[in-house]
Amino acid sequence: MRTVAIINQKGGCGKTTTAINLSACLAQLKKRILLVDMDPQAHATLGLGFTPGEYPKSVYDLLIGNDNGCASPGDVILEITPCLHLLPSDVMLSTAEPILLQRDHREYYLSDVLTGIASQYDFIIIDCPPNIGMLTFNALFACSEVIIPIESGLFALHGLSKLLETIELVNIKRNRKIMVNALATMFDRRTRIAHESLDEMIRHMGGNVFSTLINQNVKLKEAAGHGQSIITYARDSSGYRDYASLAKELAGMKVGKLKKARQSRAKSPVVTDAGVLFSYYAPEAEKVYVVADFNEWKANHTPLQNIEGTGVWQKMVPLKKGRYEYKFFVDGQWITDPDNPNKASSEFGENSYIEIH
Ligand SMILES: Nc1ncnc2c1ncn2[C@@H]1O[C@H](COP(=O)(O)OP(=O)(O)OP(=O)(O)O)[C@@H](O)[C@H]1O
Ligand SMILES: [Mg+2]
Repeated sequence: MRTVAIINQKGGCGKTTTAINLSACLAQLKKRILLVDMDPQAHATLGLGFTPGEYPKSVYDLLIGNDNGCASPGDVILEITPCLHLLPSDVMLSTAEPILLQRDHREYYLSDVLTGIASQYDFIIIDCPPNIGMLTFNALFACSEVIIPIESGLFALHGLSKLLETIELVNIKRNRKIMVNALATMFDRRTRIAHESLDEMIRHMGGNVFSTLINQNVKLKEAAGHGQSIITYARDSSGYRDYASLAKELAGMKVGKLKKARQSRAKSPVVTDAGVLFSYYAPEAEKVYVVADFNEWKANHTPLQNIEGTGVWQKMVPLKKGRYEYKFFVDGQWITDPDNPNKASSEFGENSYIEIH
């Protein structure tokens, strides 16, 4: 089973078109496919002919649920064809991000859901929203591969370095390597700029670019508008030929053996000779502090630094042997350390703690 997240924080570059049509073309190759719509805009769901409100549950019910707990995948999955299943989205999913931000192991919710059903599928394809928030992070922590669709043309590579850096950070945190390939989309072979931007993309990606190019083709747009994949909408189109070729290329790729994510779940904080390294991941935060008994619970005493703007906040604190309780103070909110399983209750609620021997 391979889990492929389709990611680019740039809007409108062909993520959803790729998610739908790659899934449909893989299913045509008799692969068992689950398409997961992780975008609150629900474009992949709409593009496969389902209107929010028509189906009882969405990915939100799997990740967050209600007072009765979370739904099980079987209650949420919609069958498009015997080989193509969909976990639909709806606008409620936009409220999942702030909820997940409050939780421990918040990046692993999707991964945990998919682990339970992975054996039923050959490929799980995840369509991501156009930002790198908690939903995209959940996709990154669940996947073994990433496809970055890039619109061929001016400014196409804008933001690509930042995205690759983010993927590298996830690799470090999970101690495993995600296979990353870019895909040239909306390619107009008559223009010089399309060819130039493809060359630049290949250089930038160190060659990790699909040889299949997705040409501009209005049938792809029309198919989505009709709630159909290109297979049923226009089988004689270049859009169909391109995505069928991409499906073959992807299915034929060699993939390395991957370690289990669960085993390498990050541990924090790290005790070093120089002190204790506190880390907190928050790409959108403005200020992060560690507040602890060692600084007399002063909220603004020990700030963490956002390392080179990567969203990883860190601070080395020299500490002697002993047991210390702490929390993070993130833009005015108290949060226990999501990467530290050691928790203790106090009169002010739950704290994380560390013992230095
Ligand atoms: N190869 C193509 N040829 C012509 N139109 C395309 C092609 N690929 C995508 N489109 C159209 O471009 C628009 C944006 O595509 P799409 O929705 O797939 O992008 P996206 O990256 O998912 O956008 P968002 O960031 O909003 O999720 C859509 O109207 C889609 O139908
Ligand atoms: Mg989309």
